[in-house]
Order: sequence, then C-alpha cells, then structure tokens
Amino acid sequence: MGIQRLVEPTAPEPEQAGTFEEAQVELTLRPQTFDDYIGQDRMKRNLRLAIDAAKKRGEPIDHVLLYGPPGLGKTTMAGVIANEMGTGLRVTSGPAIERAGDLASILTNLQDGDVLFIDEIHRLSRAVEEVLYSAMEDFKLDIVIGKGPAARSVRLDLPKFTVIGATTRTGSLAAPLRDRFGHLFHLEFYKIHDIERIIQRSAKILNTKIADEAANALATRSRQTPRIANRLLKRVRDYADVNGDGIIDKTITNNALKLLEIDDLGLDPADRRMLRAMWDNYKDHPVGLNTIAAITGDEASTIEDFYEPYLLQIGFIERTPRGRIVTPRAVEHLRQHQDH
Ligand SMILES: Nc1ncnc2c1ncn2[C@@H]1O[C@H](COP(=O)(O)OP(=O)(O)OP(=O)(O)O)[C@@H](O)[C@H]1O
Ligand SMILES: [Mg+2]
Repeated sequence: MGIQRLVEPTAPEPEQAGTFEEAQVELTLRPQTFDDYIGQDRMKRNLRLAIDAAKKRGEPIDHVLLYGPPGLGKTTMAGVIANEMGTGLRVTSGPAIERAGDLASILTNLQDGDVLFIDEIHRLSRAVEEVLYSAMEDFKLDIVIGKGPAARSVRLDLPKFTVIGATTRTGSLAAPLRDRFGHLFHLEFYKIHDIERIIQRSAKILNTKIADEAANALATRSRQTPRIANRLLKRVRDYADVNGDGIIDKTITNNALKLLEIDDLGLDPADRRMLRAMWDNYKDHPVGLNTIAAITGDEASTIEDFYEPYLLQIGFIERTPRGRIVTPRAVEHLRQHQDH
C-alpha cells in the first residue's frame, strides 16, 4: 500500500536520483516549524491564520493544495502543517494509489484530525479522484459490497481529516477536485536573500563553517530553489574537506562550482545543452515541447517540470501557443559560456 510515515527515510524520487545518505541528510535539513521554514511569507501568513482559527474551533483545517516547481518546499510544508496542528501525517502519492479500494483503506485508517499528504496529486486516476473528492467534501465514503444482483452500496463515516495535495502542474488537475481545496498556494521561486538564509541554516545543521560571501555566491547559483541550494552546499562541503580545511570560503565555492560546471546563473551543462540545441536548430522560432524532447533525448515531462520553470523565471525561454522560444538574453549567455 502506498503509504508511509514521513519520519521514515523515503527513497529519493528518480528525477532527483541520489544516494540513501543524501535522502537521510535531506531529512535532517527539512524544517519542522513555520519559524524554520524560510521565505514564502504570504503562504505562511495565511496558513498560520487558518491553523490558529482551526485550533480555536477544535477542527481540522480546510484542504490545502500546494503547487509549484520541484524542490521549493511542498512536501516540507505538509510536514510543517501537521506539526503545527499537532496531528498525525500520512504520506502517499497519486501514482501509488492505484484503485479506489487502495484509497478507501487509507481513508478508513485515518485518525480524527490527521493530515493526508498526496504528492503528485495530478497523477491520480479518474476513478480514485472521484472517491477522493466526495470524501473531502462530506467525510463520507460510498463503497459497494458484493457483486452482481446481491451488490449493495454502503456509506461509511470517515474521520475529519485534511488533504494536502502537491502538484507541479495545476493545469492537469480536474476542476471538481481542485474546487474541493479551501486553500490554494502557488510556491514562488525564492529570493536570493532567503536562499542565503537557508544555506546558513543548513550549514549550521551540517556543522560546517561558511563565509557570508560564500553563502551569497552559492545562493546566486542555486536557481532560487532550496533543494538545489542544499545539494550544492553538500558538494562544496566535500570540496572544502578535500581541498582545504573544511571551511567554505569564496575561493573554495568558486572552484567547486567550476568543477561542477555550474555557471554564474546556476545553469548546468544539461540546461546549456538544451538551450543550445534549440537555438542551433530553430533560432528564434518556436519549438514544440516534444521536438525539444526528441532533440535532447529527455522526457517531455522532465523538460517541463525540471528544466523549464527556472529558464522561464530568468527570461531565457518564452512560452507561446506555438512552442518555446529561446530569448536573446539566453543566446548572449550561451555565447559567454561555451561548453566543450
Ligand atoms: N522554506 C524552506 N526553508 C528551508 N528549507 C527548505 C524550505 N523549503 C524547502 N527546503 C529544503 O529543500 C528540500 C526540498 O524541499 P521539498 O522536498 O519540500 O520540495 P518539494 O516542493 O516537495 O519538491 P518536489 O516537487 O520535487 O516533491 C527540503 O528537504 C528542505 O530541506
Ligand atoms: Mg515533494
């Protein structure tokens, strides 16, 4: 059954392939409270209010939908909400709930007030989605017992629970399901200053000294994304341990990033390769997503979820109805960063 406690180390998702050790470190770096969760102030303000009000009434908070690019803190926020509510957290994901029966058994095992986190909620099947939104609406579960003429439908009462759904794409969520969420938050890319604070916080947890200007240099290359900031910090820490005395200063940071071929905007060789392929083949004409995927050999969904959001954010790609266009800024950047 696709359900697990968040406190157990979860295997890294394929796209963020890493080692078990990396998954462990990721857990220790994960903020548990609103105070530790840096940035996303508007979302935090609204959620704090909702939680205070819900606690006062002794009820669970309304269902929450979190959407935005990978690594911005959706899973983390689900944990923070459960923790701040003082309730249990159940974790599952869209692809893990294959049949309506799987969902029924998850729902009937919830405790009053529990938070049910459904990652990649856009990947639920239609049949499961339908069971879910009626459960979300009135905390009832309709199930059919038996087969053929003897079959009868029974209605079970469910505990009052909160669904927190996470998705990288709201577009692919069916409207009836989306409408069942009382709170919708779009996670924004982080300000450099907030990424800097995240790096300082993580360095402290990892017991590593980092100079302010090194934290700043690292932050500007972290694609405004906490997960990438933490990953780069760990790589730079390795470099500092091997090539220095373990202290991360600006020179160590620059040398380590050079070795990783990460440029001053945080782009890596894969980003540059994709942009270059688009430009070499199509110049300033729009290219369809599937065509880009065919040229680079990546999955279209990988491009859409992982490469594209940040490139759109920094104005290197534009989306038009007829496809993606590489912008002059990107071309200029590529000219200055020739890979071999
Ligand atoms: N606001 C934050 N403050 C501090 N650290 C954060 C914050 N948000 C995320 N992180 C760190 O970044 C890592 C990635 O966050 P998380 O796994 O929550 O992202 P996600 O949005 O669920 O990504 P995905 O879409 O890939 O599931 C976390 O392990 C956590 O350590
Ligand atoms: Mg997640």
